[in-house]
Amino acid sequence: MIPWEKMTGNGYKSGKMKPAVRMDQSWLMRYLRAAALSRSIVLTFIVGLLSLLLLGWWVAVKPDEIAMKTTPNGRADDIGGPDPVIELPRPVSVTTTLPRLKYEPKVLVFAETQYSPLGRDIVTVLEAVRKKFRVELGGKNVPVLTSEDRGKFSLIVFENVDKYFKMDKWNRDLLDRYCREYHVGIIGFPPLLEHTLIGATVPNMQMLMHTNVQLQDYTVNVASPVLHLTKGGQSLEGVLPGDDWTVFVPKHETYEIVAWALLSSPLNSTPSANSTQLPTVVLDTGKLDGVRRVFFGQSLKFWLHKMLFLDAMGYLINGGHQLMPLTRYILIDVDDIFVGRKGTRMNISDVQAMISTMMRWRKTVAGFRFNLGFSGKYFHAGFEEENKGDDLLLANASKFWWFCHMWGHSQPHLFNASTDVIIREMQLNYQFAKENGIPTNSGYVISPHHSGVYPVHEPLYDAWRRIWNAQVTSTEEYPHFKPMHIHRGFIYRDIRVLPRQTCGLYTHTIFLESYPGGKERLERNILGGDLFMTFLYNPINIYMTHLSNYANDRLALYTFENLFQFIGKWTNLELRSAPPLEMAKLYFHMFPGDVDPVWHNPCDDKRHMQIWASSKSCERLPKFLVVGPQKTGTTALYSFLSMHPAIRSNYHNPETFEEVQFFSGKNYHKGLDWYMNFFPLPDNSSAQYLFEKSATYFDGELVPVRAFSLIPRASIIVIVIDPVRRAYSWYQHMRAHGDRTARQHSFLDVISASRDSPLPLRNLRNRCLKPGEYAVHIEKWLDHYPANQLLILDGDELRRSPVSVMHKVQRFLKIKPFIDYTDLLRYDAKKGFYCQVVNGESNRCLGRSKGRRYPPMDAEAEKFLQHYYQPYNVALHKVLTRLNQPVPLPRWLQADLH
Ligand code: A3P
Repeated sequence: MIPWEKMTGNGYKSGKMKPAVRMDQSWLMRYLRAAALSRSIVLTFIVGLLSLLLLGWWVAVKPDEIAMKTTPNGRADDIGGPDPVIELPRPVSVTTTLPRLKYEPKVLVFAETQYSPLGRDIVTVLEAVRKKFRVELGGKNVPVLTSEDRGKFSLIVFENVDKYFKMDKWNRDLLDRYCREYHVGIIGFPPLLEHTLIGATVPNMQMLMHTNVQLQDYTVNVASPVLHLTKGGQSLEGVLPGDDWTVFVPKHETYEIVAWALLSSPLNSTPSANSTQLPTVVLDTGKLDGVRRVFFGQSLKFWLHKMLFLDAMGYLINGGHQLMPLTRYILIDVDDIFVGRKGTRMNISDVQAMISTMMRWRKTVAGFRFNLGFSGKYFHAGFEEENKGDDLLLANASKFWWFCHMWGHSQPHLFNASTDVIIREMQLNYQFAKENGIPTNSGYVISPHHSGVYPVHEPLYDAWRRIWNAQVTSTEEYPHFKPMHIHRGFIYRDIRVLPRQTCGLYTHTIFLESYPGGKERLERNILGGDLFMTFLYNPINIYMTHLSNYANDRLALYTFENLFQFIGKWTNLELRSAPPLEMAKLYFHMFPGDVDPVWHNPCDDKRHMQIWASSKSCERLPKFLVVGPQKTGTTALYSFLSMHPAIRSNYHNPETFEEVQFFSGKNYHKGLDWYMNFFPLPDNSSAQYLFEKSATYFDGELVPVRAFSLIPRASIIVIVIDPVRRAYSWYQHMRAHGDRTARQHSFLDVISASRDSPLPLRNLRNRCLKPGEYAVHIEKWLDHYPANQLLILDGDELRRSPVSVMHKVQRFLKIKPFIDYTDLLRYDAKKGFYCQVVNGESNRCLGRSKGRRYPPMDAEAEKFLQHYYQPYNVALHKVLTRLNQPVPLPRWLQADLH
């Protein structure tokens, strides 16, 4: 850490502070202190020069990385040059020796238990860097991977490498062969052994290991090809945490040392080893058996191993480092400008310190400026010195970036306010900016307390666009505040919402001495802790700080100064900054998958509930969904359910044939409020079971994840009939609706359309056949919903015996009161189907479009489809047997397999 006493004159506070605080003499401090000032100056110069050369090389040679340029349009002013404009990188073309893959390859993690800390740390890292993974728990035997699993996995990680070392020969050979043939690397973390081994032979590995040793003085090998994020050649002096280290002693040239350490207490049995460098991370280059592996001698609780784990993954997957770019963008927001209790606000010297620090940081963080968010209502509301601080900020307005916070800051009810009220507030702040020379064109806005951003309050978005022409905002609430390593962005109503990170500083954390958890906690956060890791994980970082963090002990300056130093020492990262609009463009360019939001249930998150309008209610969400697929009898089920006094369906949507079709199409972008308007307010309805039927949900690619995010406890009802019949019924339905392609082509033409057929015909074929691939879609629902929330009905049974099906449904949903449908449904000979009994007399049947009459399917088409669906039906049989429903299994399925 930068020692506190050194901070005076460096932009940090010494005046208002308690007597100079001496930082801990921990091992972590000492090595940083050792960097003398003079050396830093020379180093800074050399690093600066090298960076320039590197930058040139970078832009020219590495098109897949991010280049930044300044354009004549950029803002030139008194702090040195125009604002950066980010040149978006060309899409990365990933070269791979593998042929085109059917699956997106995953990292396969063998974890000990669901709760093991290392297993969870591994998952955290994978989630943070958006790597797809699959976890296999416990089990003594590692599942056998064969050529059928080709392309499914890109890397295998053993939480306890002992599992791998001790596999029986047959299985070990199979696994190694899979890795060799499909270029899959292995990462192993130390064996979980309670006893200490010295010089133990590692089976089949041509290396020895010592376990449970204590180490000191950690060094990263500058020559290791594994390093990417991690800077080589650095040493961490002092005793390393934990007495459970494993070290590996290679006995073959296949091994290269990635990092080593020294023994901190001698090993009696091998005195010669006491002073030797003992490898703590080794790379097996594959010279021995063609499999590349990296072994770690300590878990991820050691911060350097988190970084080396990222590097090892990058190295082993596709043999490159495409896992993470080396550029990190940073934007530091300073919320609450002009806000704060008297005595805690910035005075003149604080403002001067802020400006001088900003100028200094611009040398290490290209293009850096603080991004100030102001609330004009509280201007000049401090002591005299603080009011002068306000004036000084305004006098230097052109040096900063600015954004609208809100006129009055303390509006926890903003998310309840109408568009008019919000507009009035915004206009006041806008006027204040205009009168005081604050730029109003950044396009960036921030809501106090994140209210209204997520969960979305539409009037806020409307007002932002109208008054501030807002294009970008940020929040730490999406999808949730915790876990923090997966803050993400989305776009709503053309406003790009970027993820925001916390750096551990809040409005009330203003003195180092009284930092919650002690100053050690803040230091840990910076020196390899959460703040540092956030930086590693995210190419684009927007940090939230507050005005009070720049007054008092100036903790924000202290935190980021130390963070930048630490990053410079331990990583190869290049730091840059850019205005929010540029950051937003880059973010959604890099992560196009984040563009569409996924709405979550505000009632499942306490923080969200606090910033959600009190007039809204999660009771206006369905308790179950009938998801289809189309033409299986969904309308019949819908109409029978609606007869039940405790069940209520959605209001009709005239645009989509009454169905809401929220989760499957463009309606999803209309937001949660739009969806909830299709359901009655709890006070206006006595029905306890709201439901919705949209038959296109079943096979919608994104529907299961979207539905589960919003209504995770809902039940899902699926109906299946013979897929051959379903396809034909759908074709007839399209013809009846006047679909031109369906009218112009026979059924056989449609289903047998090939790659060479015209696009409309191919599209029709896919829409006709895809929903009948039942097993594929059911598995996708099961990826999210637990099996006991899924009810699968036999559509033939619904047709033949709807009363028994309705009883089944009620029992499954545990609906009260239980209604006997025997007298409510009656077979109508004219219609040929069961219909509702009205007043005990007449029948109310479904309309003409349900239960149509059309010629029988031609035999060739039927044969074609039977063949087409055969493998899907085999898979369906498997999944239905596993789920043990419907009972009995549909007759057509049994007949088909027979
Ligand atoms: P057909 O019109 O091809 O016969 P969906 O409502 O999911 O679109 O399904 C329509 C199908 O429901 C009809 O297809 C029909 O076979 C079937 N169905 C089942 N029970 C029915 C009922 N009681 N009344 C009308 N159609 C019913």
